[in-house]
Amino acid sequence: MKSYPQALTNPIFKLIGQIADEKQLSCYVIGGFVRDFFLKRPTPNDIDIVCIGSGIDLAKAVAEKLPGSPKVSIFKNFGTAMIKNASFELEFVGARKESYQRNSRKPAVEDGTLDDDQKRRDFTINALALSLNFKNFGCLLDPFDGLIDLDKQIIRTPLNPEETYSDDPLRMIRAIRFATQLNFKISDLSLAAIKQQSDRLKIISKERITEELNKIMMSERPSIGLALLHKTDLLRFILPELIALEGVEEVEGQLHKDNFWHTLEVVDNISAHTDNLWLKWVALLHDIGKAPTKRFDKKIGWTFHGHEYVGSKMVYKLFKRLRLPLNDKMKYVQKLVAMSSRPIVISEEFVTDAAVRRLVFDAGDDIDDLMILCEADITTKNTYKQKKYRGNFVKVRAKIQEVEERDRIRNFQPPISGELIMNTFSIGPSKKIGLIKEFIKDAILEGKIPNQYEAAFELMLEKGNELGLNVTQ
Ligand code: CTP
Repeated sequence: MKSYPQALTNPIFKLIGQIADEKQLSCYVIGGFVRDFFLKRPTPNDIDIVCIGSGIDLAKAVAEKLPGSPKVSIFKNFGTAMIKNASFELEFVGARKESYQRNSRKPAVEDGTLDDDQKRRDFTINALALSLNFKNFGCLLDPFDGLIDLDKQIIRTPLNPEETYSDDPLRMIRAIRFATQLNFKISDLSLAAIKQQSDRLKIISKERITEELNKIMMSERPSIGLALLHKTDLLRFILPELIALEGVEEVEGQLHKDNFWHTLEVVDNISAHTDNLWLKWVALLHDIGKAPTKRFDKKIGWTFHGHEYVGSKMVYKLFKRLRLPLNDKMKYVQKLVAMSSRPIVISEEFVTDAAVRRLVFDAGDDIDDLMILCEADITTKNTYKQKKYRGNFVKVRAKIQEVEERDRIRNFQPPISGELIMNTFSIGPSKKIGLIKEFIKDAILEGKIPNQYEAAFELMLEKGNELGLNVTQ
C-alpha cells in the first residue's frame, strides 16, 4: 500500500490520528483535500474526516484537545459534526452504507466499513482516503482507482452511474462542475446516465443547483460546463431562456448568428479578464432578450430591436427563480444588460464627445466593466471585422479617458443644486427646479457649457428667466 505522509504535514492530522488510536477507531481524511493534494492544487481548508464508528464522538474528543476547546456543531440527522476555527473547518462523519447526502432529510446510518463509505461517494476522485492512524499514517486507500482517474483526467462514479446519480441527483451537476473546474472529461457511461435521469434535477433545491452553477461560472472556461449542461439536458431545468437562443434561422438567404454558442464564447472571453461573478452573469445574460425580440424585416433582415431592454427586464424573474440575490448585484446585472450595446452603437458612428459623455454619465463606475463586456462580445471569426471592431473600441476607450480627464463626468454631481435654485429665485419646491437642473445637466453632457460652477450659474439664470422666474437677491 502506498503511503503519502507528506500530504499530512498539518499537525491537526497527527492529533486526530492519536485520538482515534486512543478510542481504537480507524480514521481517514477523504474527499476534496486528498484529491487536491494529488492534483497539486492548494489543499482546501475544509477537511473531511471519516471514521469507522461515531464521527460525532471523535469530533468531541478532538475539540477538547484543541487550544481553546472550540465548539462542535452537531448535525445529528446527518451523523456529522463540525469544528471550525480561523484556519480550518473539520467535518467528521462515521462511515456509512447509505449514500453521502449532506442536505438529505433521511437520517444517516452509521454502520459501514470504509469501503462501504467510499462506494457511496460521488466520484472515484473524491473517494480517495488517507489513513490517520499511527500504524499506517498516510496510507492511501483507493479501491475504485481514483488515482488512475486523476491521471486520466476523468470523472467516473464508484458504483454504476445510475445508482450514484439516483442516490443524489445533485451529483449530475457536480460532475459537470468538476469537469469544468479541472478540465476533465466525464466518462461516457456517466454522461449517458445523467442525460437519462436529467429530469430528476427537479427534486433538488434551487440553492444547491445555483451554488454549483456559480462554481461553473467562476471557472476559467465556464463554456465547458454550460455546453455539458446543455448536452445532458440539465439546462432545461436551470436556464431554458438560454436554450431559446440556440439555432440559426434562414429567411430569404439571410442568416443570423447562433446566439447560444455566441453567448458561451462571450462568457469565456470575459473570464479571461475578470473574476467578478456578476460581470460573468452579465455576459451570460447579455443577449437573453434576443429570443423574444427576434423578427425578420424584409428590408433590413434579422432584427432584435430592444433586446437589451427586454433582456434586462427578464433578469429579476430569473434571479428570483434561481435564488440569486435580489440586491445591488442584481441591479448591476440589469443595468449592464440594458446598456450592453451602448458602446457598440457609439463605436459604429463617428465617436462624438457628447455621446461618450452620456455613456460615462449613465454607466458611472461601471463603465470599465461595460467596456470589458463589449470587447468580450466580439466573437466574429472574420479577421477584417474583428480588427475593425477592436479598433473602434480603442477609439472609444481613448475618448472616454479624454472626456474623463477633462469633464469628470463619472459620478457626475451637477454644479448647481436644487437648493441654490430655490434660494436664487426665492421659490419653494416645484417642477421648475427639476427642469432647470435637467437643462444644465444636458448642456454639460452635450458639451455646450463646461462642467463648472460659473457657467452653470449663468445658464441657470438664463433658463430661470425663460421660465418667468426673477432673481431676488
Ligand atoms: N460528496 C458526495 N456527494 C455529494 C456531495 C459530496 O459523495 N453530493 C462527498 C465527496 O466525497 C466529496 C465530499 O463529500 O469529496 C465533500 O463534499 P464537498 O465539500 O461538497 O466537495 P469537495 O470534494 O470537498 O470539493 P469542493 O470543495 O470543491 O466542493
